[in-house]
Amino acid sequence: MEVDILITNIGELLTMDKEGPVKGKQMAELPVQTDMAIGIQGGKVVWIGKSEESTSLSSSQIINAKGRLVTPGLVEAHTHLVFGGSREKELALKQQGVPYLEILKQGGGILSTVRATQHATYEELLEKALFHLDRMAMHGITTVEAKSGYGLEKDTELKQLKVVQEAAKKHPLDIVSTFLGAHAIPAHYKDDPEAFLEEMCELFDEIKRENLAEFVDIFTETGVFTVEQSRRYLLKAKEKGFGLKIHADEIDPLGGTELAVEVGAISGDHLAVATDEGIEKLANSETIGVILPGTSFYLGKDDYGRAREMIDAGCALAISTDFNPGSSVTENLQLIMSIAALKLKLSPEEIWHAVTVNAAYAIGRGDEAGTIAEGRKADIVIWDAPNYLYIPYHYGVNHANTVIKNGKVIYE
Ligand code: NIG
Ligand code: FE
Repeated sequence: MEVDILITNIGELLTMDKEGPVKGKQMAELPVQTDMAIGIQGGKVVWIGKSEESTSLSSSQIINAKGRLVTPGLVEAHTHLVFGGSREKELALKQQGVPYLEILKQGGGILSTVRATQHATYEELLEKALFHLDRMAMHGITTVEAKSGYGLEKDTELKQLKVVQEAAKKHPLDIVSTFLGAHAIPAHYKDDPEAFLEEMCELFDEIKRENLAEFVDIFTETGVFTVEQSRRYLLKAKEKGFGLKIHADEIDPLGGTELAVEVGAISGDHLAVATDEGIEKLANSETIGVILPGTSFYLGKDDYGRAREMIDAGCALAISTDFNPGSSVTENLQLIMSIAALKLKLSPEEIWHAVTVNAAYAIGRGDEAGTIAEGRKADIVIWDAPNYLYIPYHYGVNHANTVIKNGKVIYE
């Protein structure tokens, strides 16, 4: 058989080819195949077998993996990809111990990025988004979720969503779009958050019509939106046919995890301070917990949350960077894998499920991303690593050697 690309001499292959999402103790079961090869044709994986049997395939592009690790492209399930400006000046405030929500209350934090995003042109935002996508790609990410939420008024929210749509056309990575208009309360609505949510709801029809987002998300937190407000908002979005996501139980345990399950959200994100009841409900639901330990790290928290207990209780978890200019400023999901190992005490086996198959299910791409299988899109990473344990172990640098997206080498 003639193929476009033949990868030979794969030392360890993780196909992650499971019926997902993978829950609880099953996250620790990670089949590893050794001495493997993969044939790619027409953007898809067409052959997986022992390296010694790959002589039946011929190709003009043979990539010798030289005994390295090969896995599915990483799936990044939670980012705030499109924003103007940056917030490096807040680092000093953080060092002085000013809490994240206090910075927001003083008009900084998310609201400062909102001002910068409102002032940025469409072209500036697009260029910046493409830059960050390149960085994600070079770190082994092949599918990424992207949220709006730095507009907080109609035009800028739409501008952000259109930038995501355009970036998806221009960039090889697959992008899944989420409308996060309910990300903070703009100053002029401080005393009437309900009216602000009404304004954001007015965008639902246009977003649907223009296919600008698949999911609707809200920040349920002290000083932002209450559980009751979030419930009403999310149910309206559901009525309009959107999938639901929620920034829940990040700082204060308000019951956002329970709400995520109640409204049938595809994912509840953060969940660092979820209650026992929330964890139990999540374990008995189809909602995936997207855990973001980069934010605990970056906001200087001592407590990294309850991911260990969540898996032990039977939850399906994904792990993501939460890439954004305030609470987690990195495109490097490999670094987050190390933090998950060291601070959340997750095993490497659990972590690999959390950044591939489960992350894909958390953004509605379980049937096309996060897995290497014959007939599927060829989204594949060859790592400068001898085995899968190595990635969380050797931290803070980029181990991606070759990144293949839709059967094309996009980084080497
Ligand atoms: O997921 N928690 C709310 N939103 C983002 C942070 C956004 C920002 O600080 O700019 C988060 O952590
Ligand atoms: Fe976030």
